[in-house]
Amino acid sequence: MSELPAVVIIGAGGHAKVVIEALRAAGYPPPLGLVDPHPAAAVIHGVPVLGGDDILPRLRAEGAAAAIVALGGNGLRQRVGDALAAMGYALPALVHPAVQLSPSARIGDGAVVMARACLGPDAVIGSLAIVNTNAVVEHDNVIGVSAHVAPGCALAGNVTVGDRALVGVGSAVRPGITIGADAVIGAGSAVVRDVPAKARVGGAPAAPLRR
Ligand SMILES: CC(C)(COP(=O)(O)OP(=O)(O)OC[C@H]1O[C@@H](n2cnc3c(N)ncnc32)[C@H](O)[C@@H]1OP(=O)(O)O)[C@@H](O)C(=O)NCCC(=O)NCCS
Repeated sequence: MSELPAVVIIGAGGHAKVVIEALRAAGYPPPLGLVDPHPAAAVIHGVPVLGGDDILPRLRAEGAAAAIVALGGNGLRQRVGDALAAMGYALPALVHPAVQLSPSARIGDGAVVMARACLGPDAVIGSLAIVNTNAVVEHDNVIGVSAHVAPGCALAGNVTVGDRALVGVGSAVRPGITIGADAVIGAGSAVVRDVPAKARVGGAPAAPLRR
C-alpha cells in the first residue's frame, strides 16, 4: 500500500469536520492544518487553523504536498481545487473505509466519498465531487466535476449529474435521468424528468422553484 500523505484541509466549516473524521478513519496521518480566512475557532476537532488562503504557496514551498478541499460550495470548491493543482498540490481522493465500493467504480482526484455511501458497478465520480454520507450512487452513474450528492440521496442506475450540480439531501432520482451542470435539486426531491443546466427544482415530482 502506498503511504498516505499528510494533507492541508481547505475550509474549517461543517464539511471540514466530516473530512477530518474520514481522514482519521481512512488511516491518514494527522492533517497539517486547516486553511480558512474566517474560521469559527482556532482549532477544529484537534486540527489547528494555519491561516487564510494566502499561506498556501508558502506551505507548498515548505513541503506540504497534498490538500483536500473541504468547501461545500460546488463552484468555489472547483476554483480552489484548480488553484491548488496549479500550485503543485496533489489532490488525493478521500474514501471513507465504511463505503460499499464496487471494484469497477472510478473516483477522481480530490473527490470525497463519505461513510456508508454505496458506489455501484462502473459508477464514475468526477474530480472534486462529494458523495456524502449514506448516499447511493448506483451502477453506471456519472457524477460530474465538483458536483455534490448530498447525504441520503438515492440515485438509480444510469443517472448523470452535471458538473457543480447539487442533489439535495434525501433526494431520489429515477433511472437514466440527466441533471445538467450547475443545477440545484432541493432537499427531499423526487427527480423523474431530466433537469436542465442551471435549473433549480424541488418537490415530488421535482418542479421548478421560485427564485
Ligand atoms: C432548493 C434550495 C437550495 C432553495 O433554497 P433558497 O434559495 O433559500 O429558497 P427558499 O427557501 O427561499 O425557497 C423558495 C421556494 O422554494 C420552495 N422550496 C425550497 N426548497 C424546497 C424543496 N427542497 N422542495 C420543495 N420546495 C422547496 C420554498 O417553499 C419556496 O416556495 P414558495 O415560493 O412557494 O414559498 C434549498 O431549499 C434546498 O433544498 N437546499 C438543499 C441543501 C442541501 O441538501 N445541501 C446539502 C448539505 S450536506
